[in-house]
Amino acid sequence: MQDTIKNIKTLEELQALYTATFGKNGTMTARLKEMKNLDNDARAALNLENTTLRELFKTRQAEIENAVMMSELAGQKLDVSLNPAPENRGTLHPLTQSLREIAQILESYGYQMRTGPEIEDDWHNFTALNTPAHHPARDMQDTFFLPNGNILRTQTSAIQIRAMESDGVPIKMFGIGATYRKEMDATHSPMFHQIEGLYIDRDITMSDLIGDVRAFLSRFFEIEDVELRIRPSYFPFTDPSIEIDMKWRGDRWLEIMGAGMVHPNVLRNAGIDPDRYQGFAFGFGWDRLAMLKYNLDDIREFYNGDVRWLKNSGF
Ligand code: PHE
Repeated sequence: MQDTIKNIKTLEELQALYTATFGKNGTMTARLKEMKNLDNDARAALNLENTTLRELFKTRQAEIENAVMMSELAGQKLDVSLNPAPENRGTLHPLTQSLREIAQILESYGYQMRTGPEIEDDWHNFTALNTPAHHPARDMQDTFFLPNGNILRTQTSAIQIRAMESDGVPIKMFGIGATYRKEMDATHSPMFHQIEGLYIDRDITMSDLIGDVRAFLSRFFEIEDVELRIRPSYFPFTDPSIEIDMKWRGDRWLEIMGAGMVHPNVLRNAGIDPDRYQGFAFGFGWDRLAMLKYNLDDIREFYNGDVRWLKNSGF
């Protein structure tokens, strides 16, 4: 019996023999039941045999388990001289990355980030922004209409109306999000993104606007003495309206954003008294700023999801 145990190779066989010996109908169990009929010497011998066998089973079980583990380990041998698999770590999308930078700068000036619905009603996207139905300025933005009369937001300016309606004044915020217009070429995508700042309080002037814009652009583009050119322009929701150009790489003027003092009608539409409060708004293409900063030349690439482009786009 003892040799048999020592020679068993698998846990299953060992278990079977153990049951046959110590189980309910096991040989040892039967013998132990008859112990009372034995004399003292025979009892002692049986007890000894019992404990010895149990020990043997335990030892053999440990040996087999150890052997199984060793053979598994041998099969999993690591070759530490192999080259590691190429690392394929993801990166933040250019837009996400630029939003984080833009938001960090504007928040440091006290602007609070806001969002709003992409499906807008006529009031927030146009009418409240001093662009009533049939106003020719609606033509400036080629709009996607939904069958129920709502539209896909054409400008983040809609967010400033919602923010003023819900929070009142003073207010210092920037709205971010996707905007939609029916146009498509290398510098236009039917879905693009805008960021728009709004600051309404008492005694806010055009020079506050230009100061904040200048500080923002010089930090975002890391240009110490950013050169700006202010041109008169037209937006229905600001008066006066301007466009701000920035000197780019010492030789070119780039149109960067539209801005102006918020039109009294807009404040009135949002429930604010324009004789007591005034302020400015500025808006720019978030994608466009990211394209400039990271040297990208086709806006559509942002949305193609081509990992090779994203990898090679200078990030
Ligand atoms: N909403 C304007 C546009 O999309 C940009 C703008 C924002 C202009 C705020 C002035 C003030 O063209």
